[in-house]
Amino acid sequence: MHKLFDLFFVSSNNHKYQEAKKILDSFGIRLGFIKSSLEEIQSNSLKEIALCKAKDAFSKCKKPLIIEDDGIFINSLNGFPGPYSSYVFKTIGNKGILNLLKQNRTAKFVSIITYCDKKILQSFDAKLDGSISKNIQGKGWGYDPVFIPNNSKKTFAELNNKNELSHRYKALKKFSKWYLHK
Ligand code: IMP
Repeated sequence: MHKLFDLFFVSSNNHKYQEAKKILDSFGIRLGFIKSSLEEIQSNSLKEIALCKAKDAFSKCKKPLIIEDDGIFINSLNGFPGPYSSYVFKTIGNKGILNLLKQNRTAKFVSIITYCDKKILQSFDAKLDGSISKNIQGKGWGYDPVFIPNNSKKTFAELNNKNELSHRYKALKKFSKWYLHK
């Protein structure tokens, strides 16, 4: 029987899925979506969180899948919010982040894509350096309106080629190279 999808993206975040689908389409991989909130352990390590999430996802779905864990790390805040990015976005949001920053606005976005099937559990990570804007610029999800990648004057929310340079794109590119040759 012809399979509709090669593998599934398990997440509660539809924005992430839409971006991941476009990116993997461009590498010839068809990505389905399973909307599900996954168990997230408290840890200072994104990788540890990602591995636990992927195992939880596979135990629920029993299909080859990827999950993604991200964080935004702000240098002048010693890497905060990092693994706590989701909680910080929900509590103080972009306005709260802008209020915490002064001169040094450099930051990075990190993405960890973790693949899991019956036999394999493997992570692929990537980072994108940039800075935090002085104001909210453009309309977009999450930290998109405040993150300016290096070599750009626009935030992710204002760029029309985010999916060709983002932390997600870079991690998924690494994953695709491995997946297509495994
Ligand atoms: P988590 O991996 O779902 O815990 O996401 C961490 C946090 O980073 C969430 O608040 C997301 O909204 C945010 N985030 C992750 N990737 C992006 C992105 O590409 N743009 C904007 N915000 C993002």
